[in-house]
Amino acid sequence: MDRQVAAVKPKVEPIRWVGDADGKLILIDQTQLPLELREIECRDVETVWEAIRSLRVRGAPAIGIAAAYGVTLGLQLPALEEPRDFEDRLRQVTQYLGESRPTAVNLFWALNRIKQTAAALRGSESCATIRVALLEEAQKIHHEDREICHAIGRFGSELLEDGTGVLTHCNAGGLATSEYGTALSTFFTAQDQGKQLHVFVDETRPLLQGSRLTAWELAQRGIDTTLICDSMAAQVMREGKVQAVVTGADRIASNGDAANKIGTYSIAVLAQAHGIPFYVAAPTSTFDLTLESGNEIPIEQRAAREITHGFGRQTAPTGISVYNPAFDVTPASHIRAIITERGLIEPVTRENVARVVRMSSENERSS
Ligand code: MRU
Repeated sequence: MDRQVAAVKPKVEPIRWVGDADGKLILIDQTQLPLELREIECRDVETVWEAIRSLRVRGAPAIGIAAAYGVTLGLQLPALEEPRDFEDRLRQVTQYLGESRPTAVNLFWALNRIKQTAAALRGSESCATIRVALLEEAQKIHHEDREICHAIGRFGSELLEDGTGVLTHCNAGGLATSEYGTALSTFFTAQDQGKQLHVFVDETRPLLQGSRLTAWELAQRGIDTTLICDSMAAQVMREGKVQAVVTGADRIASNGDAANKIGTYSIAVLAQAHGIPFYVAAPTSTFDLTLESGNEIPIEQRAAREITHGFGRQTAPTGISVYNPAFDVTPASHIRAIITERGLIEPVTRENVARVVRMSSENERSS
């Protein structure tokens, strides 16, 4: 009798905690992909900070999860038995981690959850007990992200018919989250449903998250993938090869304006010019309802060398002036729908954002 062999889908596990509150954090070093699948071990908060800063761990939800675990590492000091010392150290560690990267609000959202967990136990529990509770909260954030990504995939996949050509930018996949992604979750789920998609991947200048990470993840899962340079998107759309665009987001303001990797805004403009729906897939933890519009989203500025010396070779004249914003903001007017774990926000209006985001029970926003 013929035996059906299920296709084995490799599971990317970019973030792992090993052990109890004295344990360690293991991260896939994303700077080494696609050539090497190498892990790094974080035994102190400084290593986590550096990993976030240098994009060894990156993508909004993944940064939040890593930072939440980073707090536990920062509290692994023998001398933290006095509540005041513990509180001071917690404040110091959360502030320090919050300075690693400015744009993805999930970082501050996760740190706020950790701080709130500590605040709820302050005065009634020992420092040792609070430390365990903070690790458990980090694990909860991590676990919840898995569920959230699958829910986003279920809602998003309904927008993608069999045979659709889709375009994505940067990496909003398993590597950027707990394991299944946001934008890529919609593709993975469509694939699970038996739909064939053809995914165009922007290489994503200057750090090539598209070609190094997204193309790698899609190839790992056997999804039909074509890599293009960012500047080719208009031509690919003009040739009728793309019927939908799906990207992730790093911070979404209360009016629906969405910050994502630099280059996303241009793709949205192109999509609108070609009548192609542009979707943003993001968990409700990526919304920042304290911001009126995307104009208030802090945009990370990164080193000139990322542009002048990308990947080991100087490609610009010495001393040339460089502008390197790592993110841009796509106006809500260019977004057909935002795909969240709670369902679609469509049309993207302030009222619809508030309705869907406020549905979520523990929706603590950051400052
Ligand atoms: O600078 P990066 O690589 O952290 O930028 C990541 C992105 O822009 C992603 O699209 C975003 O964080 C969504 S991740 C699910």
